[in-house]
Amino acid sequence: MVEVIQPARRLHGSVRLPGDKSISHRYAMLASVAGGITTIRNYSSGADCHSTLACLRGLGIEVEARGDEVRIHGRGLHGYRQPPQQLDAGNSGSTIRMLSGLLAGQPFETRIGGDESLSRRPMQRIMEPLRRMGAAIEAREGRFPPLLIRGGPLEPIEYETPVASAQVKSCVLLAGLMAEGVTTVREPARTRDHTEVALREFGAEVETGPGWARVKGPARLEPRELAVPGDLSSAAFFLVGAAMLPESDLVIDGVGLNPTRAALIDFLASAGARIEILDIGMRHGEPIGVLRVRGSKLAGGVIEKGLTAALIDEIPVLAVLGAVSEEGLTVRDAAELRVKETDRIETVADNLRRLGVRVETAPDGLRVEGRQRFRSGMVSSFGDHRIAMAFAIAALAADGPVEIEGAEAASVSFPEFWSKLREIAD
Ligand code: S3P
Repeated sequence: MVEVIQPARRLHGSVRLPGDKSISHRYAMLASVAGGITTIRNYSSGADCHSTLACLRGLGIEVEARGDEVRIHGRGLHGYRQPPQQLDAGNSGSTIRMLSGLLAGQPFETRIGGDESLSRRPMQRIMEPLRRMGAAIEAREGRFPPLLIRGGPLEPIEYETPVASAQVKSCVLLAGLMAEGVTTVREPARTRDHTEVALREFGAEVETGPGWARVKGPARLEPRELAVPGDLSSAAFFLVGAAMLPESDLVIDGVGLNPTRAALIDFLASAGARIEILDIGMRHGEPIGVLRVRGSKLAGGVIEKGLTAALIDEIPVLAVLGAVSEEGLTVRDAAELRVKETDRIETVADNLRRLGVRVETAPDGLRVEGRQRFRSGMVSSFGDHRIAMAFAIAALAADGPVEIEGAEAASVSFPEFWSKLREIAD
């Protein structure tokens, strides 16, 4: 599918966004191992979170989904049934990596794989700790999906993750639910803590501190009535679009503002964006609020060290912002971008160049000079949702229409993106 995006003067009005992808995955997985029925409102409409539901169904869990409300009939930590066929995680790294933690503790063998992009993503990062806990796991070429997981009784471990990855941390904590004793994970940089927050909500014993989290097993999780905050990483596209277009005034309602995700807001503010938090509250341990952003003069900035992990999903759209800012954008310590849904250093650079923007790449980052102009042209999503949406935002500031090939990729996290963009752009 090709979407043609016309230049715009502004983004304006008020929008609500579908539920957060990260939180939706976690609520669904934890609900499946709780003892009873959990209701989840504002569940992410994205294909990734529906891949999680499909995998849970494959494991014999009853899942009712009506619009954005999902009811999951949890059957306790050991209530999964051996799936008759390979589970399909689709495009979703979160599904395969986090669910593997729960599969490692089941007394049966499971195969889990996904699409072409997922089949190229590294899995040693979860295989290593799960093997240490006692699971047997095989992978294609020793490291890629599909995985064959032979689960069984697990031992608790103390594990230091070599990469800053919330998916790896979560995988180990989920496996820790089934191990007898305390499982501890330490991480080299702070990553999103939705698993720790959700585990607490479901009644698990969790402790956290700077750079570590631990969980006590075996845990008994209680079913809950939950609502998912709007997805800040989806909001990022509209926040950047509004900040880039001088006449913008946009309000985004009901959006998740967890401090481990909200580095985006601080970064935009430090880059000169006129961004305000109008209201903030708490729901199920997750901060949720209203954001207002207006057209701004943008300075640009540097993303490196711990900030890189905190902004990892937002870097494609921040690279777009960099090109029209005064000083441009420098990204360092971001080798992880090369193993996302696409190699996002290359796919961002390729599309920037197609729109006439100069960019330099490095093994672990990129540099986009400021004060550039996007030219009319054609870009590709390369099958990556965040690349499709980042370049729709670039198109708003271009000197003519931009065609986005493979625009359907956006539905992995944000199927409503194109219609919402049309509602707020003029
Ligand atoms: C996610 C963590 C991040 C992020 C992904 C979702 C999560 O991946 O890129 O979109 O929900 O935990 P890593 O933890 O592997 O960096």
